[in-house]
Amino acid sequence: MPSNGEGTRTDMTTSLEPTTDGTPGSGGALTFPDGFVWGSATASYQIEGAVAEDGRTPSIWDTFSHTPGKVQDGDDGDVADDHYHRFAEDIALMKSLGLTSYRFSIAWPRITPQVDADSLGPVNEAGIAFYSRLIDELTAAGISPAATLYHWDLPQALEDAGGWTNRATAYRFAEYAALVTERLGDKLAMVITLNEPWCSAYLGYASGVHAPGRTEPVAALTAVHHLNLAHGLAVSAIRTAAPQLPVALTLNLAAVRPNSTSPADVDAARRVDGLQNRVFLGPTLDGAYPADVLADTAGVTDWSFVQDGDTELIHQPIDALGLNYYSPTLVAAYDGSGERPHADGHAGGAATPWIACEGVAFLDQPGPKTDMGWPIDPRGMTELLVRLHTEHPGLDLYVTENGAAFPDVLSPEGTVEDPLRSIYVGQHLAAVHEAIQAGAPVRGYYLWSLMDNFEWAYGYSKRFGIVYVDYATQARTVKASGSWYAGVIAANAVTAEAAARA
Ligand code: FCB
Repeated sequence: MPSNGEGTRTDMTTSLEPTTDGTPGSGGALTFPDGFVWGSATASYQIEGAVAEDGRTPSIWDTFSHTPGKVQDGDDGDVADDHYHRFAEDIALMKSLGLTSYRFSIAWPRITPQVDADSLGPVNEAGIAFYSRLIDELTAAGISPAATLYHWDLPQALEDAGGWTNRATAYRFAEYAALVTERLGDKLAMVITLNEPWCSAYLGYASGVHAPGRTEPVAALTAVHHLNLAHGLAVSAIRTAAPQLPVALTLNLAAVRPNSTSPADVDAARRVDGLQNRVFLGPTLDGAYPADVLADTAGVTDWSFVQDGDTELIHQPIDALGLNYYSPTLVAAYDGSGERPHADGHAGGAATPWIACEGVAFLDQPGPKTDMGWPIDPRGMTELLVRLHTEHPGLDLYVTENGAAFPDVLSPEGTVEDPLRSIYVGQHLAAVHEAIQAGAPVRGYYLWSLMDNFEWAYGYSKRFGIVYVDYATQARTVKASGSWYAGVIAANAVTAEAAARA
C-alpha cells in the first residue's frame, strides 16, 4: 500500500501558523456551548486484537489482512492495541484526559459468531459481556458511551454469501442491531448504525483496497444500496428494541470543490458530490436517490436492486448525523490527455473507487498535508456542517471523526512531541466553532483517534493517536497533543494559551 505522504511536510509549521483573524492565535478563546461533547473515537478491528477469543469468528478484515499483499508490511489486527485485555487501562487514560464521551465500535463477529445469510444464529454471551463491561467501566469513569454497530468488520460468513451485495446482509444487520440495543441500549448514550458506508461500498467492492477487496463497480453500487437499506432497517429495529436511545448515522462527506467555474469543472464536482454525499444523504434523509446519480451511473447499472418500498424503509427519522472529516476534494473535468490525476486520498488500488467518473480528474492540492498525504484545510468542515444545517435544519450534528496522522517518535525521555497534530486539531475545532456561530447545531467532537492503531490498508505505519502505542510492549504514552486536548476539554474552549501554542 502506498505511503503517499512522504516529502509533503515541508514548511508545514510556518504555513500552519495560526492566523490573527479570529481563529486560534488571535488572543481570544473560542468557547464552546455548555454541554458540548468532547470525545475520541476508535473502532473494534483497529484496536481490540483477541481475534480468536471468547467465541469471535473471522471478519472480512481478518481474511483480508491475512491475504498477502493487501496490507502494508503484512500487518494484521490479530493483536492490534490489545484493547480487549487492556480496556480498563485505556479507560483510565481517557479519564485522565477528561474525555466526556468515547465512540467505539462493536465487532459483529463477537456478538453473533455463527451468523449466515439465512439467520443470525445464537447470541454469544461472552461478546455481549465484553461490551457490557466496557460500557460499565466508561460510565463509572464519567464517560458517556457512543457505540457504532458497524465499523467494517463484517462476519466472513456473510461475505461468503455475497456480503453487502446480498440483500440478506441488510436484514441480518437489522437483527443484530436489535439484539445489541435490546441488551445494551439502556446503557448507551448514542448508537451509530454505520460508519462511512462510502468506504464499505467503494473501497471494499470497487477499488478493492479495503476488505473484501473486490473490484466490481456493479457490486459496489449494489453495496451502496444494501448499506442504506441496512441503516434504515436497523433504525426501525432499534426504535422497537430501545425506544429512548438516540440513533445516528456517520458519513464521510466530502467537501468537493471544482477547480474553476467552468461548466465542465462544476459538473465534475456535482458528479462526485452525488457519488460520495448525496447517494447516502438522499435516501436516508430525503427518501429518494438523486436522479442525477442514477443518470450518471446508468451505463453501469439500472439500479434494479432497489425494490419497491425500499426508499421508505431507508428513510427513517434519525436523531443526529455524524460527520467524519479529514480533507477536501478538488476536481476538474478530465479531457483524456495525459494520465488522469487521481489524488483523491484513496490511491493505491489497481481499480478506481469512482464509478462512472472517467471524465473526472482528482487534482493534487497545494499546501500542507498529513502523513496520509491528505491536504489540511479546515474550511471544508465548516462548509459541510453549515450545508447539513441548511439542508436539514433541526438535525443534530456531531463530528464523529477528525484528526491527523504524523510520523510520531517516542523520545528517549519517554515523550512524544507532536505539535502538528495540536495545530491540526486546533484549527479544525476553530472550524467547528465557526459552524456553530453560523447556527449549525454541532453537539460534539470526537477526535480520531484515542490511540495509534491498525490503520486498515496502511497497517501500523500511520499514527493517528493522541496516545502513542509501542506495539512491542503495548505501553501507552500520552502525546503532547493529548495533554493539549485535555486542556481544551477542561476549558471547554480552544483557550488563548492553547491557541497560541497551536
Ligand atoms: C476513517 C475511518 C477510521 C480511520 C480514519 C483515519 O475513514 O473511519 O477508521 O481509519 O479514517
